[in-house]
Amino acid sequence: MKIYLDSGNLEEIKELSYFLDGVTTNPSILHLNGGNISDIITEMAKFIRDSLSVEVISTNYDEMLSEALKLAKINPKVVVKLPMTLNGIKVCRMLNQQNIRTNVTLCFSIAQALLAAKAGATYVSPFVGRLNDVKKDGIQLIHNIRKVFDNYNYSTKILAASIRSVSDLELCAVAGADVVTSSYHVIKEMFHHELTDVGLERFINDAKISGYKI
Ligand code: E4P
Repeated sequence: MKIYLDSGNLEEIKELSYFLDGVTTNPSILHLNGGNISDIITEMAKFIRDSLSVEVISTNYDEMLSEALKLAKINPKVVVKLPMTLNGIKVCRMLNQQNIRTNVTLCFSIAQALLAAKAGATYVSPFVGRLNDVKKDGIQLIHNIRKVFDNYNYSTKILAASIRSVSDLELCAVAGADVVTSSYHVIKEMFHHELTDVGLERFINDAKISGYKI
C-alpha cells in the first residue's frame, strides 16, 4: 500500500519526503499565499516521488477540461483531481484517452466508485472520515469497493482519503486500499507506540549501566 501525505505545506512534504509515495492536495489545504499555482506545484514536485494530486475548481465541462490540461502541463507528476460529477467523469474519460492521470474525488458510494472506474480514472478517492462523520461506515466502503473492483478487474486504484487516525489508516490497509492519504499529524503518529518508547528508554538506561559504547 502506498502512503500519501494530504497537505499543501512544502515544509511538511520536505520533512516526510524520504518515505512518502505521493501527495494529495485540495483547494482547502493548498495555501497559495498569493503565489502562482504553477510555481508552487513545481517546487512541491521536486520533493515528491511520483504522484501529486491537484484539484480543478470549475464545474462546467469546458472550463474543467481547460484547467485540467493546464495543471497536467505543469509537471508530469501532477495527477488531475476531478469532482465526482457527470462533468468530472466526462473530463476523466477525455484525460484518460490522452494518458493524463486522474483522481476522482469526493467519492462516497460503490456506485460512484464504479463510474470512476468505468471512465478509466487512475485513482478514486473514497472519503472515509467524512462518511464516519455522518455515522456511515467509511472502512466498510473501502472493503466493498475492493470487492467490486476485484470482481470486474478494474485497474483504478483505491485511494482512501479523509483518514483522521492511525487506526483508520491501518483498517484501510486491511481492507485492501491501494493508497492511503492522510495529514502530517496522522502520518507522524504512525511512528509511535508506547511499547517502543518504553523499550527504547530501557535499552538506553541498560547501555549506560553496562558501559555499552560504539
Ligand atoms: C484527499 O484527497 C482529501 O483532500 C482529504 O483527504 C480530505 O480530508 P478531510 O475530510 O479531513 O478534509
